[in-house]
Amino acid sequence: MNYKIAVIKGDGIGPEIVEASMKVLDKIGEKYNHTFDYTEVLAGGAAIDACDTPLPQKTVDICKASDAVLLGALGGPKWDNLPGDKRPEAGLLGIRKALGLFANLRPAMLFEELRDASPLKSEIIGDGLDVLVVRELTGDVYFGEKKKDGDFGASDLMNYTRPEVERIARVAFDSAKKRGGKVTSVDKANVLETSRFWRSVVLEIAKEYPDVELDHLYVDNAAMQLVINPHQFDVILTGNLFGDILSDEASMLTGSIGMLPSASLGEGKFGMYEPIHGSAPDIAGQDKANPIATVLSVAMMLRYSLGLSDEADNIEEAVKKTLAQGYRTGDIAGDNSNVVGCVEMGERIISSL
Ligand code: NAD
Ligand code: IPM
Ligand code: MN
Repeated sequence: MNYKIAVIKGDGIGPEIVEASMKVLDKIGEKYNHTFDYTEVLAGGAAIDACDTPLPQKTVDICKASDAVLLGALGGPKWDNLPGDKRPEAGLLGIRKALGLFANLRPAMLFEELRDASPLKSEIIGDGLDVLVVRELTGDVYFGEKKKDGDFGASDLMNYTRPEVERIARVAFDSAKKRGGKVTSVDKANVLETSRFWRSVVLEIAKEYPDVELDHLYVDNAAMQLVINPHQFDVILTGNLFGDILSDEASMLTGSIGMLPSASLGEGKFGMYEPIHGSAPDIAGQDKANPIATVLSVAMMLRYSLGLSDEADNIEEAVKKTLAQGYRTGDIAGDNSNVVGCVEMGERIISSL
């Protein structure tokens, strides 16, 4: 089969991690007899430099005409002083919105080989750690009205509507049904009206899923529970802002933010696949970035958008095998590791396919 993939390499380490991941995908194509046709498009800082906008319309059009989108990371210090709507990050938010990608799945799964890479004690990490963060991606304070009152102050409106909460809640409950059967909804309902509303809608949707256990945590407590007892979680259902923060925290349970992939999905099979981390300007251009989060995002793309689950399994097994052979980028390296760069990590994964 022939698949159309739009590719947004992005800024900072974006091109390095995406190029390594495309080579893995090409090898999968060779092995299983698929062709992946890439169309490279610009967004973020690269698009600002080339076209003076963080999200050219052409990028949106080509993404919409593709089977899936692969994205590295956007942003960097070069563009940090631009006004909010002209920043690279506005391109990322704009593309998620334009493509209707309201559900961001961020799986924090520990590869046993990386138990020692996490700063948390081994007994807390435990066995078989597997938490799925279901983050709402096109609402919340990210997309509410923004105001700036000269030098005096500023505001960002936090809001959620019933359809927005209902659809993301269903994604979380449907996921939980196929996994550990538990949803923990995370909010700040002791303070925020938005969160009280969120909680009431989640409780209504829960009635459609009598077999799924539901509990609620305030976000401050959830942040603490994640590092003291992560095994209580199966699916974490939360809003855009809390999900952003908690997923970076959850990534450290797996050893590094460089390990966590994500799928951004809408109503159909189409999706955008992106590591949860950013453009890591501190290590960009040095061949130090860990490409595994992006490689695992490619596996999610094969599974969710292209329906190629054997191929996805193959990539995940190859990552595991490579880690078992001791190969590590700097962010996950330990005492006896074979420390490799981004390019070599990609090549080692390809050899393990
Ligand atoms: P970051 O995730 O880029 O980096 C945080 C830390 O993690 C850094 O020390 C970095 O070196 C390290 N790190 C991140 N990814 C890594 C990898 N694959 N391998 C090894 N180490 C890795 O977060 P930040 O520094 O807060 O943000 C930098 C820029 O990225 C900002 O412009 C921010 O807006 C943007 N950003 C973009 C995305 C995205 O495009 N999805 C996500 C987060 C941040
Ligand atoms: C992420 C990033 C983005 C977000 C930024 C860069 C807009 O942190 O993908 O996690 O907050 O969603
Ligand atoms: Mn983030």
